[in-house]
Amino acid sequence: SLGVPRFTLRPGQQLQPLRRTTLSLEEIRTDLGDCQRCKLCSQRTNIVFGVGAADADLMFVGEAPGRDEDLQGIPFVGKAGQLLTRIIQAIGLQRDQVYIANILKCRPPRNRDPEPDEVEQCEKFLFSQIESVQPKIIVALGRYAAQTLLRSSTPISRLRGKFCDFRGTLFIPTFHPSYLLRNPSAKREVWQDMKAFEAGFASWGVDITSPAPDRGGCRGSHSWQVFFPPGLRQGERTLLVGS
Ligand code: URA
Ligand code: URA
Repeated sequence: SLGVPRFTLRPGQQLQPLRRTTLSLEEIRTDLGDCQRCKLCSQRTNIVFGVGAADADLMFVGEAPGRDEDLQGIPFVGKAGQLLTRIIQAIGLQRDQVYIANILKCRPPRNRDPEPDEVEQCEKFLFSQIESVQPKIIVALGRYAAQTLLRSSTPISRLRGKFCDFRGTLFIPTFHPSYLLRNPSAKREVWQDMKAFEAGFASWGVDITSPAPDRGGCRGSHSWQVFFPPGLRQGERTLLVGS
């Protein structure tokens, strides 16, 4: 005997369901509160938390709010956001069927790049959002989001065009819509990225247009590993789009 007490159920006694380990989006927002964790709080108009379906199968992650987002408190509502909305519609979805968030929740002055201390304070809230929503696919928009999430310094031009595994979720880096506004010819590549995973859905058993199955009260992490396409195993870094 290891000296471990053994428990037996009395007749009629039922085991309590496992406690939920992930937070709801509301709980994460409450935890964020009137955030003063980094210097960006002093200049923001609004915290830009995230928007969309709490059980979305597809999640888009951008860099940080811009001017329009700061004013409205909603991610991707400016010019780049309108292009993102058109990209979402082009794959047969509406904005309210996906979830959209950023690495940073507050606008950096003059849209400068996020700084390491800001990311360090803020990204945990994004990770909680990812855990809560449990998307099947994460699309990282642009260099900053892709490199930050993957802890990589590989240029976006080399990150995109490949799928990889982000903590058990299929991860697709692609160009940022702001970049597409400046370089319309790059829409071709983003369209390739979107088409590639859309075309893959059937063979991977992913149908993002149907509601996510009821996951019950206990959202165990990474239960959607089955959605990895054949040929891409957990922990494996990349699979070329289209192959
Ligand atoms: N660019 C981003 O990265 N995020 C937004 O919300 C808006 C513009
Ligand atoms: N540079 C970026 O920062 N993002 C892109 O999407 C493309 C180039």
